[in-house]
Amino acid sequence: MSTGPAIPVITIDGPSGVGKGAVSAALADALGWHLLDSGAVYRAVAWVALNRDIEATDEAQLVAACEDVDLKFESSGSDIAVLIDGVSVGDQLRSEPVGQMASKVAAIPAVRRALLDLQYDFRQSPGLIADGRDMGTVVFPDAQAKIFLTASAHERATRRFKQLKEKGEDVIFDSLFSEIAERDRRDRERAVSPTVPADDAKVIDSTDMSLEQVISESKAYVESIMGGSE
Ligand code: C5P
Repeated sequence: MSTGPAIPVITIDGPSGVGKGAVSAALADALGWHLLDSGAVYRAVAWVALNRDIEATDEAQLVAACEDVDLKFESSGSDIAVLIDGVSVGDQLRSEPVGQMASKVAAIPAVRRALLDLQYDFRQSPGLIADGRDMGTVVFPDAQAKIFLTASAHERATRRFKQLKEKGEDVIFDSLFSEIAERDRRDRERAVSPTVPADDAKVIDSTDMSLEQVISESKAYVESIMGGSE
């Protein structure tokens, strides 16, 4: 079970490229709460698997990798560095090949189970903003407020394309679009922890909204739920 049910959690779930990271960071900043980027947890396992030549189907070795991966998040200002075995893995972790591998390993129930305690450990006072696919449905079902962000696949691929271009990466829109669509289909249709809104989640479709609008609607929703309790 998760530690300390009294410690509040707000979950932000949804498919890739929908703005979960930016909304989560804005909420964490506004409330002064901790942040869990659970996608980075799955990406870290994928990164280890790719570096150790572990196949996406090798359940035993993947679970062993989950158990011994030394994963740390270090924040400096608004930047969060991810360290695996003490080494900062920087932008490599965010690449689409790592995302694809993460999506494959994340479909294995034993891998998901092996990563639960690590995620529960982020539930620290005064509160946690948890970003992912199954934060509100599986990992923190008792969260105080749950948001599920959506946007059309085309819009999400366009946003991601711009981000990668700004970083100077050489990307082809059509390839990126089909990779994202494939990853989302796998994440949505898998048997364990699929990307679906919790029954009690507020669904926000951001297709025609600016990031600022999504952040302000999310904050307004959180305030409406948590009101004077914060
Ligand atoms: O959010 P991000 O794109 O970094 O996630 C990478 C992959 O990790 C997703 O495509 C998904 O397969 C997996 N993931 C997951 N459950 C989470 C977060 C991410 O299965 N809570």
